[in-house]
Amino acid sequence: MTLLTRTERALRERFDAAVGVGSPPLLQAAMEHAVFSGGARIRPQLCLAVACACGDDAPELSNAAAVALELMHCASLVHDDMPAFDNAQVRRGRPSVHKAYGEPLALLAGDGLIVMAYRVLLQGGHAHPQRLLALLDNLSQGVGVPNGIVAGQAWECEPTADLGQYQRAKTGALFVSATCAGALSSGQPPGPWAGLGAALGEAYQVADDIRDVIGDAASLGKPPGQDALLARPSAAQALGLEGAIQYFESLITQASDSIPACASRDMLRALVQGESERLVPKAMCESARLQRAAQHATTPITTR
Ligand code: IPE
Ligand code: IPE
Ligand code: MG
Ligand code: MG
Repeated sequence: MTLLTRTERALRERFDAAVGVGSPPLLQAAMEHAVFSGGARIRPQLCLAVACACGDDAPELSNAAAVALELMHCASLVHDDMPAFDNAQVRRGRPSVHKAYGEPLALLAGDGLIVMAYRVLLQGGHAHPQRLLALLDNLSQGVGVPNGIVAGQAWECEPTADLGQYQRAKTGALFVSATCAGALSSGQPPGPWAGLGAALGEAYQVADDIRDVIGDAASLGKPPGQDALLARPSAAQALGLEGAIQYFESLITQASDSIPACASRDMLRALVQGESERLVPKAMCESARLQRAAQHATTPITTR
């Protein structure tokens, strides 16, 4: 079974069990819309890949940890798309949750998913209470203050923000939680795996910034050009497109190099390389370069 199949099965099974019977139907539909709408599921797959590298001796727990990470991620997207944040109408090629269900239900769907994430983890950890405690703390660090998603989103409300700190918090931290959760759910120390999550997570946000400039709505599943429109700090704006692509590549190399020596090192390196090409395809960069060169060649020189 692929890691993606394992993720999807665990997610469906645990979501259905957690939502139970008798929830308000519109809230349930909004939560379903948020989770089962074609996400890449990179965080849970990363968690499971590290769990496998660490022996995966408690697969029910690693599945619960993976599901909790994806539920937190989906909740963060629902809230991020709301008018108070990015006011995004489209997500994963479909109407965003507030667009489809309205703001009150989007707010509640995000809240419901955050609580569901903790509940799924709790239910998966009965047999391993020590591991469960560490996993709960690890997830909280990826999501809360001072360095998790909530902090990252809050940097947008400050008059100034350090780009690296902002990106590591809003996106990198949950990737660190993902790699560390893989180790923790298998009873292994998380420390050796934090570097992989940090480098891949930052690469992921830098890639998102690059794609916001050179991607198109059909392939992104969301409209491009939003960072400039919302005046968000972005790697493409801070480093220029070429600089951002080079920085992305250096982060991918760093991610690959930080994988600890283990039997699964080649599998993990292939996962990192596969993500690199999926996120910032070489062909996409080349066609953007050609387009920019053509634009420069045809821009008339104005004189006064
Ligand atoms: C989008 O994350 C938001 C960022 C943190 C860049 P993903 O690119 O992982 O989104 P999905 O889950 O595949 O839709
Ligand atoms: C999203 O960052 C990060 C979250 C924590 C939700 P962005 O706002 O840059 O991501 P997209 O472009 O909406 O996916
Ligand atoms: Mg945002
Ligand atoms: Mg956004």
